Amino acid sequence: MTWTPEPRVLVLTRARDETADYVLRELNRRGVPFMRTDVADFPLRTALSAELRPEGSWRGALTGASRALALEGLRAVWWRKPTPFGFPSSMSGPERAFAESQARRAVGGILGSSPEVLWVNRPEAIADCTKPRQLSAAAAAGLTVPETLITNRPGDVAEFAERCGGRVVTKSLGSIRYSGEGKNGRLYTSQVPPHRWNDPRISLTAHLFQREITDKAYEIRVAAVDGRLFPVVIRAPEGPGRLDWRRDIDNLNYTSTTLPTAVEEGIHTLLHSLGLVFATLDIIVDTQNVHYLVDVNANGQWGWIDQTHEPIIHALADLLEKGTR
Ligand SMILES: Nc1ncnc2c1ncn2[C@@H]1O[C@H](COP(=O)(O)OP(=O)(O)O)[C@@H](O)[C@H]1O
Ligand SMILES: [Mg+2]
Repeated sequence: MTWTPEPRVLVLTRARDETADYVLRELNRRGVPFMRTDVADFPLRTALSAELRPEGSWRGALTGASRALALEGLRAVWWRKPTPFGFPSSMSGPERAFAESQARRAVGGILGSSPEVLWVNRPEAIADCTKPRQLSAAAAAGLTVPETLITNRPGDVAEFAERCGGRVVTKSLGSIRYSGEGKNGRLYTSQVPPHRWNDPRISLTAHLFQREITDKAYEIRVAAVDGRLFPVVIRAPEGPGRLDWRRDIDNLNYTSTTLPTAVEEGIHTLLHSLGLVFATLDIIVDTQNVHYLVDVNANGQWGWIDQTHEPIIHALADLLEKGTR
């Protein structure tokens, strides 16, 4: 039997995850031992057993079909895109809810209790990175953020829109995908024309309205990995991609760029205050060269942009290899 070194890195993600594969290939190339599993593998395919030691650490292992990870050797957790715990279908609803609560506290608590372990990123930090919180943290970090109103009072929209020169957009506070009851699609950023400012349906839940940056020169997608920034200019051709580049994803033009120092510094402060070691950020640059921060994605995609693909793979592998900072 060949000896394989103990994994130091735990990668939690779904079975099919091309983005994770890129980085794991690089870890393999470097000879950095890791264990890859999904949260959904617990409890049927992955076992966890840990005992509290007198000085406060948890000693034990996470054991999968082909690999085991000793907790004392763990240095980094990459929380990529895991799927929920997988319980037997024989369980009743209440049993499943109880089992989920137990598993979440045990797995999250044991893996999360060691200060020796670097998380990319902590799931709590990802959950906390809501649009209201990130925009507030961005403004406090000195970045320019478009005027934003979040409301369920239709009467407040018109006054806000008029202050924005009559041009406002709305966008989802969370995921842009929706599905169910025979409907599915994506909620892209869209303009809110004056006849919709008083739409009574606004009262049915919270909505985010923002000044539309009408003199957009181009947009920037920045990946941030452990303090290293990888910005790329995104230009969309005339058409729907000019408002939201995801509407024209096959026709975008990408070029590498650098950011003004003040924007770089703002991003470092912002990510520090959000507790994130990795994020992708969306920036709009207007014709006056003002950089507007509009979005922080705590678990954003980056794999599809050729210009930064390789450097980000290396930066993430460096971070996971290094582990605790
Ligand atoms: N205030 C705005 N003015 C003009 N375009 C915007 C504005 N806010 C967002 N966009 C466009 O819509 C896209 C998606 O918005 P974003 O703020 O990144 O939210 P999310 O990605 O969560 O839907 C941006 O990348 C940008 O192209
Ligand atoms: Mg975005």
